Amino acid sequence: MTPAAVNLAGRDLLALEGMDRAEINAILQTAETFGEVIRRDVKKVPTLRGKSVVTLFYENSTRTRTSFEAAGKYMSADVINISGSASSASKGESLRDTFLTLQALTADLIVMRTPFSGACHQAAEWVKAPVVNAGDGMHEHPTQGLLDLLTIQQVKGHLEGLTVAIVGDIAHSRVARSNIWGLAAMGATVRLVGPSTLLPPDAAGLPVEVFTDLRAGLEGADVVNVLRLQLERQTKALFPTVREYSRLFGVSRDMLRVCKPDVMVLHPGPMNRGVEISGDVPDLPASYMEKQVTNGVAVRMAVLYLLLGAEG
Ligand code: CP
Repeated sequence: MTPAAVNLAGRDLLALEGMDRAEINAILQTAETFGEVIRRDVKKVPTLRGKSVVTLFYENSTRTRTSFEAAGKYMSADVINISGSASSASKGESLRDTFLTLQALTADLIVMRTPFSGACHQAAEWVKAPVVNAGDGMHEHPTQGLLDLLTIQQVKGHLEGLTVAIVGDIAHSRVARSNIWGLAAMGATVRLVGPSTLLPPDAAGLPVEVFTDLRAGLEGADVVNVLRLQLERQTKALFPTVREYSRLFGVSRDMLRVCKPDVMVLHPGPMNRGVEISGDVPDLPASYMEKQVTNGVAVRMAVLYLLLGAEG
């Protein structure tokens, strides 16, 4: 099932930075296979029977937590969900002791979302089980990046040579970072588009082109990936008003006309219609947000399958 040269069994999935094309392709190809399983009436295969997957979320989530749970259950794993507020972290337990406890409880794989960039890397050093980063602060969200790649590949037929414009609050976005590294590894051209205050300070060291004008950044783009303003991560005022941001950087139906005629629009969610994206754009045939969510389940099934070294 997996390309012969790639073996991800026992590995962590912490970032797309550093992953090569063969590894990413292995996950995308495996996700295509699982996409077939989730289209069945009975969405159940015995692939991970006897395996336990723990999801540990210290931040809110609708899509990611639910799709990891669905992915594990569709493959017959035992999935145990722990929210940060319900864990003993609220009683002062350290992250290290939490992870050692999960290891003692014989978790076979741990999925973590955290507001702290780098915390998943640190946790992965404490336990033998694979750790999957489900979003760490402003760093990476690798399974979101993979599901975005899968969605683009399914619609466009390929990734190499495409121009992908990532628009919005890139400085605070872990989704943007995973997309940048994943798309670059697959041979796409990545544009970052936003006000200079919302562009990452290290943009010059990333494999990207930078635009501070929306129209220029969208011109001729094959794909537009729109990001939410992450006000919860902004520690100071980075633009005058949300209304002005929306006027200058909101992606509207009119603005999409400068892209390629067959442009596709993505948004990782949660989406604020009327802010970073006009209210009607998500409902256009060019928008693929629901496909992204469904692909999220297939990608997470592939990740659990490959990291747990399942057979069959
Ligand atoms: N895209 C994403 O990570 O969404 P959630 O925060 O709902 O998981």
